[in-house]
Amino acid sequence: MSQKTVTLTDNSTGKTYTLPVLPGTTGPEVIDIRKLYADSGYFTYDPGFTSTGSCESKITYIDGDEGILLHRGYAIEDLAKNCNFLEVCYLLLHGELPSPEQLVTFDKTITYHTMVHEQINYFLRGFRRDAHPMAILCGVTGALSSFYHDSTDIEDPKQRMIASHRLIAKLPTIAAMAYKYSVGQPFMYPRNDLSYAENFLYMTFGVPCEPYVNNPVLSRAMDRIFILHADHEQNASTSTVRLAGSSGANPFACIAAGIASLWGPAHGGANEAVLKMLQEIGDKDRIPEFIKRAKDKNDSFRLMGFGHRVYKNFDPRAQVMRETCHEVLGDLGIKNDPLLDIAMELERIALEDEYFIEKKLYPNVDFYSGIILKAMGFPTSMFTVLFAVARTVGWIAQWKEMIEDPGQKIGRPRQLYTGATQRTFIPQNERG
Ligand code: SDX
Repeated sequence: MSQKTVTLTDNSTGKTYTLPVLPGTTGPEVIDIRKLYADSGYFTYDPGFTSTGSCESKITYIDGDEGILLHRGYAIEDLAKNCNFLEVCYLLLHGELPSPEQLVTFDKTITYHTMVHEQINYFLRGFRRDAHPMAILCGVTGALSSFYHDSTDIEDPKQRMIASHRLIAKLPTIAAMAYKYSVGQPFMYPRNDLSYAENFLYMTFGVPCEPYVNNPVLSRAMDRIFILHADHEQNASTSTVRLAGSSGANPFACIAAGIASLWGPAHGGANEAVLKMLQEIGDKDRIPEFIKRAKDKNDSFRLMGFGHRVYKNFDPRAQVMRETCHEVLGDLGIKNDPLLDIAMELERIALEDEYFIEKKLYPNVDFYSGIILKAMGFPTSMFTVLFAVARTVGWIAQWKEMIEDPGQKIGRPRQLYTGATQRTFIPQNERG
């Protein structure tokens, strides 16, 4: 079949430019503009990359209109229901679901990387006790490169995989240490007899003074929350990791950059912001006041946990999260959680409101997660930390894919310049 193309006509010169169209296995085709500037002298302009593909990827596919999220072709609902988080990590990293033997080996590999160098304890002591745990996670993750930088040759596939295993394994340990440091409790070393999610809950909520009793409902919910946050195509933080990695920076520095980007309230920080918003609303009767503010162009307030750049129907993760929310609250015997009542009423009203319907604003993955995490005992400041722990596998899988892409180059966007054109320099003694 002949190459599909599109033609661009420059009305000022009558010149035409023919651009190839590249098909994916599914989803929108792309116009290949790699030669556009060389041929036409024009850049394209797309702040926020609303219509721009930054890379080719085989990891995650999202159909925002149909509410579909696939990881290596498998639907998120199937993965959340049938897999554990490390199975999904293997799938994202290797492209296929692991055999039972492969999963046992992978699980053991991750387990035996969960400890951090003992010197890391001293990094924590450099922070104030009230430091935001995302600041600690960002700082300490970047600092990991000082422990492995001499052996992190990103051109060596074996060392790329070891770095990937280390990051997936150590982020929960560092996250739990950040929490323990904030509450003044001793750090709990990881245990090799626990699953990934059980180990994280143990390191976070266990204490040396008594045996830790795992709650299987909570550890299953934690594992499922990790799965729901594992990867999400070229979102802001993943794009940050890819751009940092395109310069050849080591993977620990790249993941630290991803953590920094995720922290923003428009992105991963939204789960923390949702809870603060629900607490600010405080009563179902005040919901109309906040809906009005969210619709007011002169008010910067937005309904946190609603809206998405890609999902214009529903976020399939939010649906699984809502079910998990009811399971966890039910298991914990929390009958009337006022924040859940407000959230459900807010969702009902928003989904009936013309503004939200017209703008296609639906609850996203962050809308319910905070309610579950609060019920599980996490402080609000830890919510985005948990998102980062889960998303580390997505970031590192995308980083690996970029490094292994023979066509990849250092990312270097251009711009539309609207500043001063060249002008004569004014010596200091002649300036007004
Ligand atoms: C995540 O990209 C990913 O995949 C991210 C993520 C992942 O897994 O990595 O899914 C995780 O970040 C989820 C999103 C969490 N953020 C929030 O819940 C914060 C609240 N949501 C908004 O800030 C917003 O919806 C975004 C940032 C999520 C999306 O913003 P877009 O795509 O840039 O959309 P937009 O800002 O252009 O909004 C379109 C319109 C605007 O109105 P108009 O200018 O067209 O008149 O919708 C309005 C916005 O004002 N709008 C909202 C709104 N979100 C968008 N109005 C009120 N409340 C909101 N939440």
